[in-house]
Amino acid sequence: MKITFAVGVSSLVLSLFQICKGAGTLSQVTTAQLDKAIPKRAGPSGCASATEQAECATNEVAAAAITNAISKYGVKRRGEVVALIALMAYESADWEYNINHFPGRPGQGTRAMLMYNFISTYAQSLYPNKVTATEASSQSTQVMNSVRELVLNDNDSFAAAFWYLTTVAKDYHGDESRLRSGNIDDFKAYIENGVHTAWDEQRGNVWKAVDAALF
Ligand SMILES: *[C@@H]1O[C@H](CO)[C@@H](O)[C@H](O)[C@H]1NC(C)=O
Repeated sequence: MKITFAVGVSSLVLSLFQICKGAGTLSQVTTAQLDKAIPKRAGPSGCASATEQAECATNEVAAAAITNAISKYGVKRRGEVVALIALMAYESADWEYNINHFPGRPGQGTRAMLMYNFISTYAQSLYPNKVTATEASSQSTQVMNSVRELVLNDNDSFAAAFWYLTTVAKDYHGDESRLRSGNIDDFKAYIENGVHTAWDEQRGNVWKAVDAALF
């Protein structure tokens, strides 16, 4: 009797822990959550200190667009959402940049800073009548930047990381053994093998702040 009770309590504690850690799913991200992770962009004047004023987004704008993206792409596992927000916050310098400035690669952009080959595929998928095959594979700076312009609005720009996960790196989407909630090694694996870019400590710091804020 006593043993049964003890087992019952420990599994209850375990499931409470998992709920607290948000092991399940989430369907929205709030401004308050982003304010905890990225205090710099809190409030209506959250972009006041940004150099690129015109590109900068506050957490309120980001939270609304990210919530739309969660719904549009059906990315609801907490570990996936945390990973994508952390990736975007790092790539855009806390929502300051919407296009690549350093060194200023033509056609590169969105909050996920996708390279032009992905930007053009993404833009074609959203606006098939606005991007020709020639434009999609263009090497012209002017054409590349105008195709990119199609996906720089808040909804599309904050959704680019969600599109990438669910189309380009779809092995990482909905797989219970990958991008697990609270697992930084899974995030690192996604950065290195899903996004094919270099890991650095700052990516981990951003992820930790987002992971701690998203309950
Ligand atoms: C952003 O997406 C939401 C949800 O789909 C939609 O209601 C809203 O109109 C979109 N905003 C713009 C500017 O298109």
